[in-house]
Amino acid sequence: MKTHRPIQLPTPKTIIEPFRIKMIEPIGMLRPEERVRLLAEAGYNVFKLPAEAVTFDLLTDSGTSAMSAQQWSAMMAGDESYAGAKSFYNFERAVKDLTGMRHVIPTHQGRAAESLLMKAMLKPGQIVIGNTHFDTTRANIESAGGIAKDMPCKAAADSGVIDPFKGNINTEELDSYLKENKSKVGFVIMTVTNNSLAGQPVAMGNLRAAKEIAKKHGIPFFLDVARFAENSYFIKTREADYSQKTVKEIAQEMFSLADGALMSSKKDAFGNIGGFLALNNNEVAEAVRTLMVITEGFPTYGGLAGRDLEALAVGLEEVLDENYLAYRIRSIQYFGEGIEAAGLKIVKPLGGHAVYIDAGKTLPHIPALKFPGQALSVALYEHIGIRCCEVGSVMLGHRDAKTGVEHPAPVEQVRLAIPRRVYTQSHVDYMIEMIGYLAPYLGDLPGYEFEYQAPMLRHFSARFRRC
Ligand code: F0G
Repeated sequence: MKTHRPIQLPTPKTIIEPFRIKMIEPIGMLRPEERVRLLAEAGYNVFKLPAEAVTFDLLTDSGTSAMSAQQWSAMMAGDESYAGAKSFYNFERAVKDLTGMRHVIPTHQGRAAESLLMKAMLKPGQIVIGNTHFDTTRANIESAGGIAKDMPCKAAADSGVIDPFKGNINTEELDSYLKENKSKVGFVIMTVTNNSLAGQPVAMGNLRAAKEIAKKHGIPFFLDVARFAENSYFIKTREADYSQKTVKEIAQEMFSLADGALMSSKKDAFGNIGGFLALNNNEVAEAVRTLMVITEGFPTYGGLAGRDLEALAVGLEEVLDENYLAYRIRSIQYFGEGIEAAGLKIVKPLGGHAVYIDAGKTLPHIPALKFPGQALSVALYEHIGIRCCEVGSVMLGHRDAKTGVEHPAPVEQVRLAIPRRVYTQSHVDYMIEMIGYLAPYLGDLPGYEFEYQAPMLRHFSARFRRC
């Protein structure tokens, strides 16, 4: 008999979507003239477009995931009892397995968990320190009478610096600040990954150091874990000593450092809605359970249906699949590399859930107060059907109510957030190709000015005109 040569194929360069599609949803395929009309009707504000008219909806990765067959089938078993539903215990088991925390309290989304935590923990005037607070976290701290303080690491200040963990907190600053001011500080909260800093991850070493500093000064240490699995995968692939650990072990180690955690389950739990608070402290948990009945509902459902709790319990396990995470992180990098090759300036290194385009550098002919990020996001919709989010002087700048003078933001960016398990590589290739065709015309894009703006959160409802 002929002896066969053993066949050993190389490791493939292509990382595939580790799933197949069972149910489809058509996407809007409009003619450019239709998009031009809709944009004018929306006052050039992409938040006001009907989702049906969008081809690629990259406004957010929040609540936009495709759920799995396992999640949908778990939903059928949802127990809708008001109190003590079986679905609550399934959810509680999943969260405890991951976090090891004593108390698990569901909420209808992340900001509800923030609001409850701030009300239960903060006294007026107390400071909450973070690596960088997400905007709803900041708003909830302030509305509870507290002060939100960001302490990003030094590498974060320069968008050109390549550093594996630009989401870190500045531990030296944290230590010296707590030495002077610990009596004024309520707690420290670390956001993993750091959404307000382009989705950059936080190192385990940094979490541990921050925890030890907080502990030394007697300050509680919390985590905002909307994207905990993506952060854990970055730790596995970038931090020494973690390559042999599973992502689940890494996540469990991360949680073991904290006194409590809050999560928007609309991200890494693949939920279309949901959140939770996980706490070790009995008094804080009791205070939250008392407060939540007014706004969220009974503590075993927290504003969610039993079926939502079932879907989230499954999602929290599924997200730890390392084939999924390899695909997820690689697909963001692939998209970012493609956009950069097309000639646009992006924020580097690429983070875990979105590509951020530096609109200021990409459209240098449009000054900050003519809103380059707005110009780019309108153009991406008009010419390609991509809806994305300006993160610049429209969202983060403000108009002085007395003088009417506009103040710009420190960055002019556009965020292209990628919903989980939703778009395929051919969608991404199409977007990259079209961005390449648009690139030579970017210097011709007009700037914008406000036609209308609300006194708060103006980016959601503003109307603009071209100028
Ligand atoms: N924390 C982080 C880090 C977030 O990114 C978000 C939401 C929240 C808390 C609030 O959670 O939306 O469930 O109430 N981020 C979304 C985004 C809105 O588009 O980045 P939520």
